[in-house]
Amino acid sequence: MLSEQIIARLTDIVGPKRLLLESEDLQRFGIDRTTIWQANPCAVVLPGSVEEVQQIVLLANERNLAIVPSGGRTGLSGGAVAKDGEIVVAMDRMNQVLDFNPMDRCVTLGAGMITAQLQDFATQQGLFYPVDFASTGSSQIGGNIATNAGGINVIRYGMTREWVMGLKVVNGAGEILDLNRGLVKNNTGYDFRHLFIGSEGTLGLICEATIQLTRPPAESKVLVLGIGNFPAILDVLRTFSAQIDLSAFEFFSQAALDKVTEHRGHPKPFATQTPFYALLEFETATESVADSAMTLFEACMEQGWVLDGVLSQSLSQAQALWKLREDISETLWHWQPYKNDISVRVSRMADFLREVNELAASRYPDFELVWYGHIGDGNLHLNILRPQNLSNDDFVAKCGNVSAEIGQLLARYEGSISAEHGVGLLKKDYLRYSRSPQEMDLMRSVKKAFDPNAILNPGKLFD
Ligand code: MLT
Ligand code: ZN
Repeated sequence: MLSEQIIARLTDIVGPKRLLLESEDLQRFGIDRTTIWQANPCAVVLPGSVEEVQQIVLLANERNLAIVPSGGRTGLSGGAVAKDGEIVVAMDRMNQVLDFNPMDRCVTLGAGMITAQLQDFATQQGLFYPVDFASTGSSQIGGNIATNAGGINVIRYGMTREWVMGLKVVNGAGEILDLNRGLVKNNTGYDFRHLFIGSEGTLGLICEATIQLTRPPAESKVLVLGIGNFPAILDVLRTFSAQIDLSAFEFFSQAALDKVTEHRGHPKPFATQTPFYALLEFETATESVADSAMTLFEACMEQGWVLDGVLSQSLSQAQALWKLREDISETLWHWQPYKNDISVRVSRMADFLREVNELAASRYPDFELVWYGHIGDGNLHLNILRPQNLSNDDFVAKCGNVSAEIGQLLARYEGSISAEHGVGLLKKDYLRYSRSPQEMDLMRSVKKAFDPNAILNPGKLFD
């Protein structure tokens, strides 16, 4: 509970309508997409400017209050969960385009802008913002930057980091930092901008961002292939990427396809059932690209890697094929999945996946595993579905054991416990499998430099 005095101070900063104390609002703003923790913030504030954010942070330092920065709350690792009486600072009102320069192809915007609005803005300018994923309709740019969001086009365009040309942040000490200011070249020492990207709200609140836009892609085609085993997916990836610039190379298992078609009513891509499916997308600026793709498809069939396939013949068919992949995440919420978001080098994926499957079959035979992900990036999403006879608490505890065992495996494979979703609360216990003790110590020192009183997102990333 906040004292009357602090409530009055916050009201002075943001105005009475921008301080939310009703239980319904606290519940709504205090949680992300995870279902493990209960929301329990003491207040939600909705600042409208960088200066208001700064005032809130200065007050939090003065009164030793914890802050949870909040964007679209679409995170999957508990990074935006306020479970311990924190103040949620939600960026929803800071959602305007502040500057656009066609020469630089850069747009500066408030961190609360919804990702899809940025994509639409880029389209209106005849340009393109290429970072794309299923939750673009509600995720916010600030949150994307705080988690360095990836998505379905990383193989071609990289992650959010590639597109951030500048950041205005308020750090944990309440200082406003204007980082990089849209410059392409700026070799003036440490680039703090990159520290804030992926810092999960532990160093500062991202208030404004300058984002690079690019040329729109040419018309694209989507190819969905039925594949007999996991190593063959990698053979297909190698074969296609040797000759075609792919903008996506995704995969999903038969279990994922079954669930998404049953629950969403989407038609299957073809009649043949196969253990795995790959979805490839590529631009077809010239007819010859589509011809090459067909030749490669036939070659992969001859090798026995591919058992069936379909190539989109129209934009609507391409979109329908994409739904088979993009709707998996939303569909699986029905089973309260425990999410692992792991990466290894592409060349080691087949061995790694085999070992995880063997581990699960011998030690957790009652768990159903659903695999999908971004093969082109070495990123596997392993969702474990809760068996009906297991309570949520027992399930989460058991999945924690699985994560530790997978963590050990990842350490051996020199992989990562979080490819793109971030660490948050969900994975902090397993961070040591991906980062050395020296790195962890340095991370703590960095945190102290930017947030000396540890008021920002306490308990996230590490303790
Ligand atoms: C995806 O690739 O679909 C997203 O990262 C979300 C998820 O893994 O559930
Ligand atoms: Zn993903």
